[in-house]
Amino acid sequence: MLLNAGDPAAIDTAARRLAAGSLVGMPTETVYGLAADADNASAVHRIFDAKGRPADHPLIVHLAHGEGARTWRAGVDHYAREVPAFAAALMDRFWPGPLTVILPRREGVAAVAAGGQDSVGLRCPAHPVAQALLNAAAAQGVHGVAAPSANRFGRVSPTTAAHVAEEFAALPDDALLILDGGACPVGIESTIVDATRSHPVLLRPGMITPAQLEAACGQPLRARDEAAPRASGTLESHYAPRATVRLMDSKPLQTALDVLGSDAKHIAVYARSPVKAARGVPLRRMPDDAARCAQELFAVLRELDATGVRLIWVETPPADAAWDGVRDRLQRAAA
Ligand code: TXA
Ligand code: MG
Repeated sequence: MLLNAGDPAAIDTAARRLAAGSLVGMPTETVYGLAADADNASAVHRIFDAKGRPADHPLIVHLAHGEGARTWRAGVDHYAREVPAFAAALMDRFWPGPLTVILPRREGVAAVAAGGQDSVGLRCPAHPVAQALLNAAAAQGVHGVAAPSANRFGRVSPTTAAHVAEEFAALPDDALLILDGGACPVGIESTIVDATRSHPVLLRPGMITPAQLEAACGQPLRARDEAAPRASGTLESHYAPRATVRLMDSKPLQTALDVLGSDAKHIAVYARSPVKAARGVPLRRMPDDAARCAQELFAVLRELDATGVRLIWVETPPADAAWDGVRDRLQRAAA
């Protein structure tokens, strides 16, 4: 069931369904989430079932912003056992916004959502519809909302309500209410920082760059190591369309298209450079700006995939840090 999120009655209905243990497709500034009450074990099991996601892959818990930071701070206190100073600085700087912080979990809360780990991923999203829903749900006693990206496990994350409907078309219509809040403005998932140890570790790059994180918390970010928590978004192969994605520099890409000529019909292309391809080859121009590329990336991958091609050739993004998030998603789609 798809409801227009601009209708206040839709938010109210969705909040009541969350409080009753049902699933809601929720727009956020990054991607759409498949939401359930984080403290309701059977509701959270429904998320894992619908996604086909292994139950030991932890979910992010989303917190209401309410009237200023007081509300999300109460949410952090509810779920986290302790908050290192660098993590508090990150939350102060980037919340509400596309940042997830992994913190030591208070025993007895959100255990199923946390996939049995002794940590919990928290995020206060900036999207007005997500916030309206989180606030309305909080008024019904929901402390936090567990929400992974609203796609089947391993697939491309959804950035429109129609993508969510497509992913879960097999569910009975009344099993999932989807709030249609339009296209997500950021377009790739939140930046994830592990704060369970004495120093910040970048677990998943997003649109907040390492330099911005370091400036906000006054500490250098460390790379992931053996002891860092696992994250499914960090699995080597993820975000994969049906077609095989291949990253190529513009010159070899053009040469390969020239060699194939009109035999390139099973290939789609997404490139910043003005490449030439035979008629009938689906061709999308990649924006020169990383933020604009991130915003459309998953929709473009879905759209090119839907043309039925066997291969999607993508021009390798620039090496610049602003492109880290986009590059990461494309590398995983290509793995
Ligand atoms: O932007 C986003 O983060 C979106 C929107 C809906 O908020 N959510 C999202 O959720 O991308 P998901 O489940 O697709 O990815 C969450 C990532 C996973 O890689 C998961 O392993 C990691 O966060 N994660 C969550 N809790 C964790 C924890 N306690 N320890 C380590 N990793 C955790
Ligand atoms: Mg995901």
